[in-house]
Amino acid sequence: MVELAVVLPTFKERENVAPVLAALERALAGIHYEVIFVDDDSPDETAELIRGISLRDPRVRVLQRIHRRGLSSACVEGMMATAAPYIAVMDADLQHDETILPAMLATLKQQHLDLVIASRNMPGGSMGDFSRERVAISGFGKTLSRMVCRCELSDPMSGFFLLDRAFVHEVVRSVSAIGFKILVDLVASCRRPVRFAEVPYRFRTRQRGESKLDIMVLIEYLQLVLDKMVGDLIPARFLLFSVVGALGALLNMAALAMLFRWFGLEFTIALGVATFLAMTSNFFLNNTVTYRDRRLKGSMLWLGLVSFYAVCSVGGVITIMLSEFLRRAGLAWYTAGAIAVVITSVWNFSITQLVTWRLQRRRHASRSAPQQA
Ligand code: GDD
Ligand code: MN
Repeated sequence: MVELAVVLPTFKERENVAPVLAALERALAGIHYEVIFVDDDSPDETAELIRGISLRDPRVRVLQRIHRRGLSSACVEGMMATAAPYIAVMDADLQHDETILPAMLATLKQQHLDLVIASRNMPGGSMGDFSRERVAISGFGKTLSRMVCRCELSDPMSGFFLLDRAFVHEVVRSVSAIGFKILVDLVASCRRPVRFAEVPYRFRTRQRGESKLDIMVLIEYLQLVLDKMVGDLIPARFLLFSVVGALGALLNMAALAMLFRWFGLEFTIALGVATFLAMTSNFFLNNTVTYRDRRLKGSMLWLGLVSFYAVCSVGGVITIMLSEFLRRAGLAWYTAGAIAVVITSVWNFSITQLVTWRLQRRRHASRSAPQQA
């Protein structure tokens, strides 16, 4: 019977597949285990390579996700794809020390815990040769994590841990699955104190392939923390969309002031140009931040931009008409304006979500539809 499943998220890790499997084979001698790679359709055909291996070794499987990205959601789906009573989550690039897995499993079983975390921040552990900036960012992340986790984790940013499947099932419907930080997400999603232990390890240096960590990881982490705090009330994506919208409004005002006051353009023309600029920047910001996981590319990018202009222009008309109507109905101008802005934001958000950021999928769907005879 399979006792342990090791979930390995991968994106462009082709050259790490064989080494990580060999390392697990050595480390897990005597334990009945299976390995589940969750690959986001890596262009280097990582998934194809793993399928070749699973033909010979049924302990190895791959879940290949199409048009999807995201470390956290990959881990969640990998965890749900196994029946093993214990589940380890680990990076596939050998930076996590697989030799401590048996000790982690023993601790979890002996102490009847929900979770055992491999930590870099306790005696015997180390960040390895992490740059000073990354250590600082990690510290900042730790501070934030305290606000949502309600417990003290020495390494909340860890992507290396072992869980009891009952715990996974208990929290899985509440996880946000946004971004990179799945551990914080799991712990913050639990409605009771989590029973956990920590085991130290040294973070290794990457030997092959490259890190996928970038500035977006930080933004997604903030988004996760926000979602954990207010997500029951307001969807995280709407929050991001609103932040982008607010930045757009500032840009709109600044551009209007410049064009009207400095360049002496006629007011309506200046307003038109400024609005156009703000809409354009909002589109690109939303495409890279808010809808990173559905990012439009190539020709779809331009079609998306046009649809975004169209939806937001209708939104503009709604704002003007609605605020005018409310003001006539006797509301103060600022109340009328505020209500109109909120309603327009919801309109812009809902419709662009349904139209603009669905374009890529629609195109792929029509492409791969079965040919009519
Ligand atoms: N399926 C999938 N989808 N896998 C991904 C994605 C994705 O979008 N992005 C990254 N991965 C996989 C990588 O292939 C790798 O196996 C693992 O997730 C970690 O990605 P890295 O790019 O190597 O991240 P890192 O080394 O900078 O940071 C990791 O270690 C830190 C310390 O434990 C992450 O696990 C961090 O969350 C963690 O803080
Ligand atoms: Mn790594």
